[in-house]
Amino acid sequence: MELRKESLKAMGKLGMTEMADFLFGKLKTDPSQEVKVEALQALVAMSAPNLSDAISYAMRDVSEAVRVAGLGLIAQTSLPNDQKVPLLMEILKKRTLAEQQTALLTLGSLPGSKDFKEWTSILEDFKLGKLPEGTWIELEEAVLATGSANLKTQYEALLDQKAGGETWKKYAGALAEGNVERGRNIFFQNQTAQCIRCHAYDDMGGNAGPALDNIGKTLSKQDLLIALVEPSKRLAPGFGTITLTLVAGDKVTGLLLEDKKDSMRVQVGSEVKEIAKKEIASTALGASSMPPMGTLLSKREIRDLVSYLSTLKRSE
Ligand code: HEC
Repeated sequence: MELRKESLKAMGKLGMTEMADFLFGKLKTDPSQEVKVEALQALVAMSAPNLSDAISYAMRDVSEAVRVAGLGLIAQTSLPNDQKVPLLMEILKKRTLAEQQTALLTLGSLPGSKDFKEWTSILEDFKLGKLPEGTWIELEEAVLATGSANLKTQYEALLDQKAGGETWKKYAGALAEGNVERGRNIFFQNQTAQCIRCHAYDDMGGNAGPALDNIGKTLSKQDLLIALVEPSKRLAPGFGTITLTLVAGDKVTGLLLEDKKDSMRVQVGSEVKEIAKKEIASTALGASSMPPMGTLLSKREIRDLVSYLSTLKRSE
């Protein structure tokens, strides 16, 4: 298959337009979706005369990967905007998440996109909860890509409204499926986020924070997201301080070891206290020493990280 893909790529590069019909045939009938995508890309590379037809065809293929590839190319076709935009809107309403994401990004990338009247209905759908959470990050990227300050303000106001004052909810789009491989690279290599400086993974990494090689088993995706973007909202057991105000009036401050159903275990100096919840009037968590990642990484990177972290399950 690699060979087939390489030869299709070469045809594209060489601009062998006499092969355009052959490539279109591959797009229609090859059993492999990767070969189909390669055939489509070769047609793009040679600006084939049948490119618009090929892209329209690809967008209706049985394989989602081919449809998404076709969709991503629509900006490059000679179709006028007044045909592209309705097509994208239709996809946004009816298709799979991956297609909806690509449709939004494509819409934002079209010339003159800041003046499309369609944004009004898209933002209205967003407001009414008709756009799945998994498209929020693409919606934001698309709105920013239009370069319109007005659209950006509208989007941000709606997002604030949806989040209802909870920081992490502004990142809810990051709960959708991300790219695990890219998330892994961020975890081990991102110089800004520096996860591995503070966290252990297997036998490497630091110990300022808890080891993370089993974190996909202990935390849900939502808790992972909260840990990343609003770290002081919940603290990993053994890694943060808490102050308990007791019903009796006195205060206890120590390292929170465990938050159980009916009690809390807190270490004060070298002594471990177990305090029943009915004796506790209120609690205040100390600040996490982990930096909130929303300022260091893009939302898309955070989505990839959450997806990666949720795969970390030690097999015992
Ligand atoms: C400066 C040190 C530091 C850096 C850098 C850091 N963390 Fe943390 N992290 C901590 C500390 C300390 C805690 C424990 C307190 C808390 O829960 O916020 C923690 C908690 C967590 C938790 C919750 C663990 C649990 O068991 O509840 C996750 C998940 C996490 N970090 C992931 C990451 C990822 C992913 C990165 C990189 C993007 C990162 N951290 C970067 C210090 C750090």
